[in-house]
Amino acid sequence: MIHVENLTKYYDDLLAVDHINFDVRKGEIFGFLGPNGAGKTTTVRMLSCLTKITEGEAYINGYSVKKDKKMVKKSIGVVQDTANLYGDLTVKQNLKFIAELYGVDKKRVNEIIKEFELPADRKFEKLSFGFKKRATLAAAVLHNPPVLFLDEPTVGLDVRSSYAIQKLILRLNKEGHTIFLTTHNMQIAEKLSHRIAIINKGKIVAIGNKYQLKTLLKKKIKIEVEISNIQKQITSELQTFSPRIEGNKVIFFAEDVHEFLEQFYQITKKYNIKTKSINTVLPSIEDVFLEVTK
Ligand SMILES: Nc1ncnc2c1ncn2[C@@H]1O[C@H](COP(=O)(O)OP(=O)(O)OP(=O)(O)O)[C@@H](O)[C@H]1O
Ligand SMILES: [Mg+2]
Repeated sequence: MIHVENLTKYYDDLLAVDHINFDVRKGEIFGFLGPNGAGKTTTVRMLSCLTKITEGEAYINGYSVKKDKKMVKKSIGVVQDTANLYGDLTVKQNLKFIAELYGVDKKRVNEIIKEFELPADRKFEKLSFGFKKRATLAAAVLHNPPVLFLDEPTVGLDVRSSYAIQKLILRLNKEGHTIFLTTHNMQIAEKLSHRIAIINKGKIVAIGNKYQLKTLLKKKIKIEVEISNIQKQITSELQTFSPRIEGNKVIFFAEDVHEFLEQFYQITKKYNIKTKSINTVLPSIEDVFLEVTK
């Protein structure tokens, strides 16, 4: 559904997206992860004809983004990172206006208002942040496009609103929409996506399903320890195990758990540090992300 070849974007001298290649299959939720400024929004904007491609090509639903903009626009719905409905129009007026633009039957407006549980007669500007996102998502699917681009659809939402949007995303995917989802939220990416690409400084540094991504970790065993007091020595003397402090825990990564335990106990003995708990846990997409974007 999405085919990308050497896609590149320069903003003057700044290389924002650097010759990226990937495919998104029909029916997939494709997670696009990356730190701030990595090039996620720029990629979405190029693929949805909102900004010019500097170099490379992309095809959506078989149509060239460069040569067949009209068909591409018919094939996609976009939820941008900023709200793009009219503030002084009500939800229904906004949706009716978009329906008219796309030549969609007006009946669909009422259906979608019901389906998305939207307050039809409230002005868009008066909606809460969460409902603004919901309304924008409703507007993006009004013409029933096969491909949806969602740029940070859950950012800034509270747990319940975020959960509601995630449920909508899953439902839309079940109904057959292929979804390109950018997010900072690793748990959401891991939970919703069939495959994930990680972009860093304009380049794709990892791509695959979550199992494939986790094989990229050189040290695959993750160990969480809770100790009486986190002292500098524990991280400096165990540098080879890539320590990371998270709250009252220290996280280590090892290739061999016995080798780690041996050294860990030596250090705790040497500095008289008491161990409260020690657990091995499965690495997460966040661990992969931290490794490939460091
Ligand atoms: N309109 C623009 N003009 C010039 N530079 C831009 C423009 N838009 C983005 N950039 C730059 O291009 C790079 C990629 O930005 P982009 O917005 O695509 O990143 P992002 O991955 O979406 O980041 P975030 O997670 O913060 O949304 C950044 O260095 C950014 O400053
Ligand atoms: Mg962005």
